Amino acid sequence: MEAHIAEWLNLLVRWIHFIVGVAWIGASFYFNWLENHLNRQAPQEKGIDGNLWAVHGGGFYHLKKFTNGPDKLPEVLHWFKWEAYMTWVSGMTMLTIVYYYNAQAMMIDPSVFALSPIAAITIGISSGILSWFVYDFLCKSPLKDKPLILGFIIFLYLALLAFILSQFLSPRAAYIHVGAAIGTIMAANVFFVIIPAQKELVKALSESRTPDPSYGASGLLRSRHNNYLTLPVLFIMISNHFPSTYGNQYNWLVLIAVSAVGILVRHYYNIRHLKKAMWMLPTALFAFILIVMATMPAKQKALSDSETVSTADVLTIFQQRCFSCHSSQPTQAGFSSPPAGLAYDKKGVLENNADKINTQVTQKIMPLGNLTKMTEAEREKINRWYRSLK
Ligand code: HEC
Repeated sequence: MEAHIAEWLNLLVRWIHFIVGVAWIGASFYFNWLENHLNRQAPQEKGIDGNLWAVHGGGFYHLKKFTNGPDKLPEVLHWFKWEAYMTWVSGMTMLTIVYYYNAQAMMIDPSVFALSPIAAITIGISSGILSWFVYDFLCKSPLKDKPLILGFIIFLYLALLAFILSQFLSPRAAYIHVGAAIGTIMAANVFFVIIPAQKELVKALSESRTPDPSYGASGLLRSRHNNYLTLPVLFIMISNHFPSTYGNQYNWLVLIAVSAVGILVRHYYNIRHLKKAMWMLPTALFAFILIVMATMPAKQKALSDSETVSTADVLTIFQQRCFSCHSSQPTQAGFSSPPAGLAYDKKGVLENNADKINTQVTQKIMPLGNLTKMTEAEREKINRWYRSLK
């Protein structure tokens, strides 16, 4: 009953997180695109920096960007902030439902580090808060006048975070907490810097004075960071479904490498209107292929007849180590239905999923948190069973 409700709650919050996240990133991409595509050629109307015509959904739109703002504040002015806040709130709720509520299974991997659930949760929560303070400190330091170096140092900090978390938390928890730290930085940027900068703009306009330029400069810097962080954070969100990423021995390095590719792709879209960015997309694709090759599992040699293993030979291992979660009626607390829809007590399910099972077992992702205490010898035997099927 409780697990059943937790599952539906997970679904609801995930759905909301996804929707508001699309709205946030969609708006951010759209305004970025708008800024880059404004027609700024003279002649422009008085006080207008640039304008743009677009056709969408059955109508023509004509947008203008003001050099300093309108003479008088419009009655209705739209802000874009709730998407950001809701994405963060729903993300944190999901982190709690999926990871903190089930910390023993989801956050701890005894083969990585034998933490207590409280310690794992403390590391998880404090990594997000700490990251915001480190990032904010860097952005306010004299580095703010050297955006390229600042960007590089922020990237190094996030790389270090990925490395440190991967030394303590289960691989997926480490990944998602790097994502949560980035998401926290992005949402806090909106809350603490970008929206206050816009409020200053509006206030200055209503008081007929020129806005304090320091607000605008930091708002622009933080928006730019948010823009570059979108592709890495989206990658981290989906990576949880791809064991070749978080399951790699050097999973933190995979995270950094794929994020760097994402940043390069984002950069291409930011500057492609300047027509000197042609090399970026092929480079990103090439780097991606290199990552695929570098993470390729070693080829295993063929088994001799005496080494082959049948399903009957490994059934007890599955019964002891997996059935508590992966069966039609799970007995493990917190599970009301077999996770990922995999009920190994059903005919043919083991064989049909042998590929996935082999990956999860040999990369030590399953059994989750090794709650059922699977041994090395058993992992090796499952691997031979998988190879015998081929
Ligand atoms: C404590 C509960 C638990 C135990 C025990 C457990 N699993 Fe899982 N398993 C899960 C959960 C939860 C998921 C879903 C993860 C997700 O949705 O990303 C999962 C997902 C999987 C998947 C699907 C992964 C994918 O990418 O689709 C496979 C394969 C798997 N488990 C195999 C096993 C095997 C084999 C065992 C036994 C050696 C095992 N599991 C033991 C909880 C468990």
